[in-house]
Amino acid sequence: MCKINFDFLISHAKVYGFIFPSSEIYGGLNAVYDYGPHGVELKNNIKKFWWKSMTQLHENIIGLDSSIIMHSDVWHASGHVDKFNELLIDNKDSKKRYRPEILIQEYVEKNFLNNPKKKEEILSRLFQSLQNQNLGELKILIDELCICDPIFKTKNWTEIRHFNMMYKIKNEKDLYLRPETAQGIFSNFHNILKSTRIKIPFGIAQIGKSFRNEIFARKFIFRMREFEQMEMQYFILPEEEIKWYEYWRKNRLKWHLELNLENKQSYKLCDHDHLAHYENVGSDIEFHFPFGFKEIEGIHSRRDFDLKNHEFFSKKKLRIFESKRNYIPYVIETSLGLDRLFLAIFSSSLKKEKLKNGKIRVVLKFPYYLSPIQAAIFPLVRKDGLPEIAKKIFYDLKIHHRLVYDEKESIGKLYRRQDAIGTPFCFTVDYDTIKTDTVTMRNRDSMKQKRIYIKEISNIIEQETGLKKIFKKLSYFI
Ligand code: GAP
Repeated sequence: MCKINFDFLISHAKVYGFIFPSSEIYGGLNAVYDYGPHGVELKNNIKKFWWKSMTQLHENIIGLDSSIIMHSDVWHASGHVDKFNELLIDNKDSKKRYRPEILIQEYVEKNFLNNPKKKEEILSRLFQSLQNQNLGELKILIDELCICDPIFKTKNWTEIRHFNMMYKIKNEKDLYLRPETAQGIFSNFHNILKSTRIKIPFGIAQIGKSFRNEIFARKFIFRMREFEQMEMQYFILPEEEIKWYEYWRKNRLKWHLELNLENKQSYKLCDHDHLAHYENVGSDIEFHFPFGFKEIEGIHSRRDFDLKNHEFFSKKKLRIFESKRNYIPYVIETSLGLDRLFLAIFSSSLKKEKLKNGKIRVVLKFPYYLSPIQAAIFPLVRKDGLPEIAKKIFYDLKIHHRLVYDEKESIGKLYRRQDAIGTPFCFTVDYDTIKTDTVTMRNRDSMKQKRIYIKEISNIIEQETGLKKIFKKLSYFI
């Protein structure tokens, strides 16, 4: 196995139609990306997998699709107008913006590798300043350490200030693009209670776009300005907060492990020591991306923070009334970044393998059920009636499965192309097909081939690449 570097990964994603830089013909746009023909299939499969895991496997979790633009009071009630801020520092020469805590962290990582005591001392000062929101002390740290602009190498810094990360809609007083999908769930809490017969504990799941004006947007699709979240808010009795928080922490980690990316060591559960404005306790599931361990999903106890504030701002009752009790439920939230999960799956699946003949093959070893294309159908040669048989198989089966038909190159090149986009199976029609009604079936990972009957193809695709197998496993721990 040969090592893959991050630039190669980005280039592979573009060349094979997974991810394109947005507006590329106009020079691109920082931290915004488009999903190409294979990218959108993979993304839709991930969404379907998460959605069904949440709503189909849990009978008490239901779905919602709320709007991106909401009443401005939603964001006052949720605390995002006042508190959804990052710290910001500008370099007056390069005119670039940075997050001061990241400048300090990166400086310390680079310069005090062999001096753990000094590193510890600076990180502890950084932590204290962040905890106390002491912006003056943060600036002193930057000056003391003589931290320069990474590009211009000058120390001509502005003061540090707060910067709200929501995108305001121009010409619309006080309207924003949503920075999290969760508020659509809280503001529909009453409608959902009234329109269903769901009882506590229950969850509401949603997949949708969120927008954040990220100052420090980089690392490909890891941190974007427009991204998608897959969130679930679980409404519970207040006295059961810790029980359900622990349940969802474990349940979500198990779900990630079942994806079987790399190995168990690729995941970490980390408790938050810096809490978001809405959470009482929280943790992150971190994944080992090509640039190190980083957050992929957050699990937060939001208690009654959101519903209580929406009650206050809307003057509507957002409560549960049951057996002489009247209360605002607590909420445990699971919040997964769809694009980050995409990157985790893509980066851990992309392999360069040295073959016996010394050549290198590039292969995307996606979990079968997530692959953009489930199977490819080829004729061995473009003559003697083989394309006609292969096309018939393709037309008969394409209503059931995500398939491609290809005959444009030699069989070896057709296999390599399917490897590079992660297709688990290739079925080839050859001269024996005419006599025996069989085709060769080639497996992406082992590259081994065997003969099967044409009538078996559909079942094999369904069994090997459908969601049934993985759902059977998942349903054991739900
Ligand atoms: N509702 C809670 C919430 O939004 P968060 O930790 O800010 O919590 C949840 O975000 C998840 O959304 C993160 O774990 C990450 O996967 C994803 N996410 C957040 N900001 C992102 C960005 N700028 N680009 C891509 N994904 C992002």
